[in-house]
Amino acid sequence: AQTPVKVTVTGAAGQIGYALLFRIASGHLLGADVPVKLSLLEIPQAVKAAEGTAMELDDCAFPLLSGIEITDDANKAFDGANIALLVGARPRTAGMERGDLLQANGGIFGPQGKAINDHAADDIRVLVVGNPANTNALIAQHSAPDVPAERFTAMTRLDHNRALSQLAAKLQVPVTEIKKMTIWGNHSATQYPDLFHAEVGGKIAAELVDDAWLRDTFIPTVAKRGAAIIEARGASSAASAANAAIDHVFDWVNGTEWTSAAIPSDGSYGVPEGLISSFPVASRNGKWEIIQGLEIDAFSRERIDASVRELEEERTAVRELGLI
Ligand code: NAI
Repeated sequence: AQTPVKVTVTGAAGQIGYALLFRIASGHLLGADVPVKLSLLEIPQAVKAAEGTAMELDDCAFPLLSGIEITDDANKAFDGANIALLVGARPRTAGMERGDLLQANGGIFGPQGKAINDHAADDIRVLVVGNPANTNALIAQHSAPDVPAERFTAMTRLDHNRALSQLAAKLQVPVTEIKKMTIWGNHSATQYPDLFHAEVGGKIAAELVDDAWLRDTFIPTVAKRGAAIIEARGASSAASAANAAIDHVFDWVNGTEWTSAAIPSDGSYGVPEGLISSFPVASRNGKWEIIQGLEIDAFSRERIDASVRELEEERTAVRELGLI
């Protein structure tokens, strides 16, 4: 039988964790023929709740689930891990400045990066979901100098899927008709969902919608969808975030011709090297590749630059805090 793939999930007792673990265990993360072993990392106060979730996982009798471990020790949680989904993070609370937020998350993602560096399997792949995701991924990456930098990624797939869904509804087409959607930059309100390369039935999406809708409805709706969900549901996106994490890892491992993911920049499209920024990407042989050669007009340039500037400011701030 195939050796199970060890998947470590942090923040396992949280809302996204609850939506994510069952789909991993049922074969959606890697494929319906790949056995998995789950490792759940939580803070001590939430270990009991994670144990409760593990009881429910047991009760599903998933054929692909070969075991579950639960711990509050990152060294154990990442020991031999092949995939790490870093979901647990410190949320921004009232009165918290950006510096405080980055400092608090540095206290989580620094040690987790080091534990990954010291204990994970050689093929470890990391997806950071916990916000501020791009910069948390940067912190973890810098704490893991022995792991190839490209293995640290952050999630903009939820934004990508939101963009597909908004455009499909506007044009009254199935989401499967839309190709080459791209989210650029930071997973934040500055992100830029790009319709100038997206295609619907072979036509450029930006030419199928009016400029005002693109500028004043589409872009802000996608960028502020998280807030709209909180307003409607009274809680932040969880199942859709879990679904996006599944999509990201599945495509990373199994390949795709085009999606969006935040990966370390090699300087493409004027994004300073090393920033973990969202790009149009393909995945081949288990590696993300930035799709090259796209023409970027002035409208897109301005928006990509604004989001990348925010990422640079976050990088400067975590440097000044000594986190990278
Ligand atoms: P939640 O508050 O329900 O769960 C977070 C869990 O993380 C809690 O159980 C907490 O005990 C745990 N945790 C905190 N510090 C930890 C640590 N050091 N080690 C292990 N576990 C730890 O939050 P939810 O809704 O599950 O969201 C998790 C994160 O995902 C948040 O940062 C949220 O902003 C982010 N998010 C990101 C999205 C994206 O598109 N990138 C979309 C939606 C949410």
